[in-house]
Amino acid sequence: MAIVAPSILSADFGHLHDEVADVVAKGAEWVHVDVMDGRFVPNITIGPVVTQAVKKAAGEAVVDVHLMIVEPDKYLADFRNAGADVLTVHAEACTHLHRTIQVIKGLGAMAGVSLNPHTPESVLDYVLDELDLVLVMSVNPGFGGQSLIEGVFPKIERIKESITRRGLSTLIEVDGGVKPNNAHRFTAAGADVLVAGSGVYKAEDRAAAIAALRAS
Ligand code: DX5
Ligand code: ZN
Repeated sequence: MAIVAPSILSADFGHLHDEVADVVAKGAEWVHVDVMDGRFVPNITIGPVVTQAVKKAAGEAVVDVHLMIVEPDKYLADFRNAGADVLTVHAEACTHLHRTIQVIKGLGAMAGVSLNPHTPESVLDYVLDELDLVLVMSVNPGFGGQSLIEGVFPKIERIKESITRRGLSTLIEVDGGVKPNNAHRFTAAGADVLVAGSGVYKAEDRAAAIAALRAS
């Protein structure tokens, strides 16, 4: 069974509490929060205040915060205090990635590192053993509703192979263009956690979409 993490980027922000509670009630174990700063990515989204509201609405679900921001170190404690259970930073945004990972772990959160589509998985060679999660971007980050980039599949396979070879329990999460009808390709390659924004929130039947993603 895959873990499903609906991305609230595609939710109705005018009814955010209900939109979060809805997907949790329909089987989502994680809720994915996309934080964008208008610098690392072209878009601007939400900060710790809204994350705190998401945490309240999420109940027992894991709040999975994806930081698409420059200088994430400045805000790690704020997002942790807001209720983030997982804090994922981008390798491309961290000058001292190893140190940043230690800070996240020191805050008591699960530590994740995300890779843009062009970033080789080898940047993880000397930090993989420290990580709870690798977030592999299957689109260029910044917007929901994009189509997946095919090159992601061999990359997931290579990361999975490293995790297995090293005997780690690091989760692989995938993000971007994940839908009920292609999710099996991600899990076959080694993905454990499926982020889906439009694939869940824009689905006619959200419960069915979540169930199909979980089963894939
Ligand atoms: C993109 C975000 C994603 C986005 C996914 O930058 O990181 O989490 O919400 O949206 P879909 O699933 O619609 O591609
Ligand atoms: Zn995301």
